[in-house]
Amino acid sequence: NWTPGHVIDEAVELIRQQVGDERVICGLSGGVDSAVAALLIHKAIGDQLTCIFVDTGLLRAGEREQVVDTFGNHMHIPLVVVDARQRFLDRLANVVDPEQKRKIIGSEFIRVFEDEAVRLAEKQGNIAFLAQGTLYPDVIESTSHDTASTAKSIKSHHNVGGLPKEMKLKLVEPLRMLFKDEVREIGAALGLPEDWVWRHPFPGPGLAIRIIGAVDEQRLNVLRAADKIVIEEIQKAGIYRQLGQAFAVLTPIQSVGVMGDYRTYANLVAVRAVTTGDFMTADWARLSPELLGRISNRLVNEVAEINRVVYDITSKPPATIEWE
Ligand code: XMP
Repeated sequence: NWTPGHVIDEAVELIRQQVGDERVICGLSGGVDSAVAALLIHKAIGDQLTCIFVDTGLLRAGEREQVVDTFGNHMHIPLVVVDARQRFLDRLANVVDPEQKRKIIGSEFIRVFEDEAVRLAEKQGNIAFLAQGTLYPDVIESTSHDTASTAKSIKSHHNVGGLPKEMKLKLVEPLRMLFKDEVREIGAALGLPEDWVWRHPFPGPGLAIRIIGAVDEQRLNVLRAADKIVIEEIQKAGIYRQLGQAFAVLTPIQSVGVMGDYRTYANLVAVRAVTTGDFMTADWARLSPELLGRISNRLVNEVAEINRVVYDITSKPPATIEWE
């Protein structure tokens, strides 16, 4: 009989046995997995845990504030926020190729994380463990070597939590035996806010792979504003949980529009929403024309740089969920 309470007790016991009185660091991504891993570990060993949150500048609106608020202020978990926005902007300047973006962001992330881990170790003493929110399906996938599963990963995925090499950290993976829906239940039982528990997945490279073409601060701000509107309207319509993912994509296309007496020449934004079970295949979501209308109106009215909106009606395959 599976209950969140039992699983939590068992996980806490295992973490204590594994970690003893050593110190642990955990990278928070803003997603549910790393959050639940951190909560479990904090429950087990308290302030022997330090969480690290890297602000890459590629995050959604309010994400950093939410992490600080929930983990730092509300749950009192030791938290270090690293402002690495400029580092990422510099490295991404003029980079257009999606795989190149992923490589740069992945390696820069590990570098920032390592720097911070070293700094922490110097300040507070040796760190022995790195926590990761690895789920059971990830464990299966990374141990199976059949070509089918490798062929499925069309895009190289970079997630939070590259292992700092010189520090020789051991891994703590308290979610290794759990599926996503179980992780959500445990998160809720541990007091993780509702909207966090049900959050759509967000790719490691963040908004950078939703800006087609080169990434800069101005385009990030446009996309952040657009993304916020899309999510707000979908939440207001009460269908957020039915969707696997929903977001805006900033294209490099500019088109002519008219605003009052003026001609505009501004950005085309695409709205993407999909339903999916496992993210390997996905269907475009049949959003109502009324909802699409509200999203479109708000995008062009509230974001000056946007004057045209299209809705993506391709399923996966042949399209992928992300545009890059
Ligand atoms: P695609 O676009 O391949 O996406 O259909 C499938 C799922 O993977 C996510 N995704 C990524 N996640 N790093 C990540 O951590 C990445 O580079 C990456 N690329 C795609 C995507 O958001 C969707 O959930």
